[in-house]
Amino acid sequence: EKGTYPHYMLKEIDEQPLVIRKIIQKYQDDNGQLVIQPDILNAVDEADRVYIVAAGTSYHAGLLGKQFIEKWAKTPVEVHVASEFSYNMPLLSENPLFIFISQSGETADSRAVLVQVKELGYKTLTITNVPGSTLSREADYTLLLHAGPEIAVASTKAYTAQIAVLSILAAVTAERKGAGLHFDLAQELGIVATAMEALCDQKEEFEYIAREYLSTTRNCFFIGRAVDYYVGLEGSLKLKEISYIQAEGFAGGELKHGTIALIENGTPVIALATQEHVNLSIRGNVKEVVARGANPCIISIKGLEEEDDRFVLPEVHETLTPLVAVVPLQLISYFAALHRGCDVDKPRNLAKSVTVE
Ligand code: F6R
Repeated sequence: EKGTYPHYMLKEIDEQPLVIRKIIQKYQDDNGQLVIQPDILNAVDEADRVYIVAAGTSYHAGLLGKQFIEKWAKTPVEVHVASEFSYNMPLLSENPLFIFISQSGETADSRAVLVQVKELGYKTLTITNVPGSTLSREADYTLLLHAGPEIAVASTKAYTAQIAVLSILAAVTAERKGAGLHFDLAQELGIVATAMEALCDQKEEFEYIAREYLSTTRNCFFIGRAVDYYVGLEGSLKLKEISYIQAEGFAGGELKHGTIALIENGTPVIALATQEHVNLSIRGNVKEVVARGANPCIISIKGLEEEDDRFVLPEVHETLTPLVAVVPLQLISYFAALHRGCDVDKPRNLAKSVTVE
């Protein structure tokens, strides 16, 4: 099934451009308009607040979903870790909609929340890769990721598919509210797919970065601001789960409130700089860690690049940069794990779907 690929993870990373194109196609009508089933659109439109509930990588996608839904559809969104929700239930709004994001549709922590909020009579939507999965069957509505089976324990193509589907949901809701986007999302997602392809064609570069920064290190930090912070969280999860390097993602501005104490001579710090509005600040953070001896790996984007940047991403629409910024982080994690002799597809202590609470 993995054909000529040595690992499912590498195959699934490579499938991302295709998956994005498939999603565009699946969510388009005959006229090329992005569409969402009317009952789901009604549910989102009527909600006074959206509660996104998820775990792990799907939670990280939820953090980005909040950006789209709040910015475009103007509906307030809270994002919650499923395992904490039941005993940390927020004060709910009058007319909430719950969105469960789950690749497998089987995560027990998420299901426990679903059962709980259904008892309270609230509307529920599951965004999943698996039709007929528990979370899909038990929620009122389902949106599918169309990513094809994800076998590697480390989630890659499901994450980018989740972001793409959330962006479409937000854009179509915004349209419905009479506040359509000022750009063509389907077209911009197409540009993202092309950019992802270009990144997947540069594997030697990411293998080299992994060798240079991560072959012997004990730890690694990811920093970013705004959406780059969320992508950094995902990058750090990818790296730690398959390479066992202690990896943490931080908001650039939080560094000086404690974390910077961990920086030693040679500590790798992967910094994302894809957002113009925080570019100066994140570059300031890089200088701070470099002054403490860090080994910086700056990943920026065309238009914001500077001389010392280690890698420059192809340009995509500024709201969609997470979809491309995560690809190098996935590939760097893959090669770091490979170089360190780890079982990339089946990391120790982890299961593909966590069906116990
Ligand atoms: C990380 C990873 C996990 C899952 C999490 C939720 O690579 O795969 O963090 O994202 O267990 O799983 P789903 O999305 O199936 O609910």
